[in-house]
Amino acid sequence: MDKEDRITAAKAGGTEEKNERGLRPQNLQEYIGQKTVTDNLKVFIEAARKRGEPLDHVLFYGPPGLGKTTLAGIIANELEVDIRITSGPAIERAGDLAAILTNLNENDVLFIDEIQRLNRSVEEVLYSAMEDFALDIIIGKGPSARSIRLDLAHFTLIGATTRAGSLSAPLRDRFGVVCKFETYSKNELKQIACRSSEVLGLEADESSLNEISGRSRGTPRVVNRLLKRVRDFSQVEGTGHVEINITKKALKALGVDERGLENLDREILKLIIERFHGGPVGIDTIAASIGEERITIEDVYEPYLIQAGFLYRTQKGRMVSEDAYRHLGLDVPESIKPPEDISEETEKQEQLEL
Ligand SMILES: Nc1ncnc2c1ncn2[C@@H]1O[C@H](COP(=O)(O)OP(=O)(O)OP(=O)(O)O)[C@@H](O)[C@H]1O
Ligand SMILES: [Mg+2]
Repeated sequence: MDKEDRITAAKAGGTEEKNERGLRPQNLQEYIGQKTVTDNLKVFIEAARKRGEPLDHVLFYGPPGLGKTTLAGIIANELEVDIRITSGPAIERAGDLAAILTNLNENDVLFIDEIQRLNRSVEEVLYSAMEDFALDIIIGKGPSARSIRLDLAHFTLIGATTRAGSLSAPLRDRFGVVCKFETYSKNELKQIACRSSEVLGLEADESSLNEISGRSRGTPRVVNRLLKRVRDFSQVEGTGHVEINITKKALKALGVDERGLENLDREILKLIIERFHGGPVGIDTIAASIGEERITIEDVYEPYLIQAGFLYRTQKGRMVSEDAYRHLGLDVPESIKPPEDISEETEKQEQLEL
């Protein structure tokens, strides 16, 4: 299955990004959750405004669908400046970046999504732009080549990445503000579901909103997607009003269970239980057995299974938890042991190496 097809995929599919715009909160007041991040940003925004200076460069990191792009837009709104949105893979050459940078006005925000995917030569140009608000451009070739320095407007770079670890250290160090995004609580997701149904002009009863937020994997993008699909079922098979029976029916038809797992999530757990006695089993073996690529398992399926407490990652491979057996309605075997503590394992290994 294409990972973008999953109803609970946290990443946005093809046209979804465009459709999402309508549901995006426009100011900090409308933005639900991520309180640590927004509380700090409020102070920095206020201070920057008072001084009439650009906000320091900001790095957002965290899983997809948690509101990084949304918050970048809000920052620009709060600062009352323009935002230019692009992404790491879209900036192919240093010249592309130069064109973007020279078109920015004083205090503008430049948002670069997937910033870890910038290529090296582009990244190096970005360093001096971030630090000195200047570009060094080489004109001509060979002995007649000369370098000229181009001054840029004082801008704020907001970078977003799902993998902070894959950012190069020099780039990471140039961000003055670094914000980590956390998954949302059920209550926050419910508030988001409530707000989104208002924006969509939907009447939804409380138990339906509860049901949807409980199955959304801590991710606002999934809340919105489930809400829209439940709306479809309500309009076709009901009165248009989102009520609990239709909601449950829709979620069942979508294959999303009480904990937000989909068929392939359950297949992974079943495979480890039935073929490998609950694990540990290597990730490559799992990937080969269910016919998916290893990276897809690691990036798409595994993070939520681990976070929800169904799967452990140990040094010997993946293991299911007692909860996984219970969730699938299976008896928990007596032999199942919680995994050895990974940090202890590492310590042991380090001692061995000494
Ligand atoms: N705090 C929030 N309050 C209300 N809605 C939110 C919030 N965060 C995200 N959303 C909704 O979730 C959707 C996805 O958010 P967004 O596109 O900002 O995520 P993202 O972190 O940029 O994801 P990606 O890593 O895939 O780019 C948005 O359309 C928005 O409506
Ligand atoms: Mg985004």
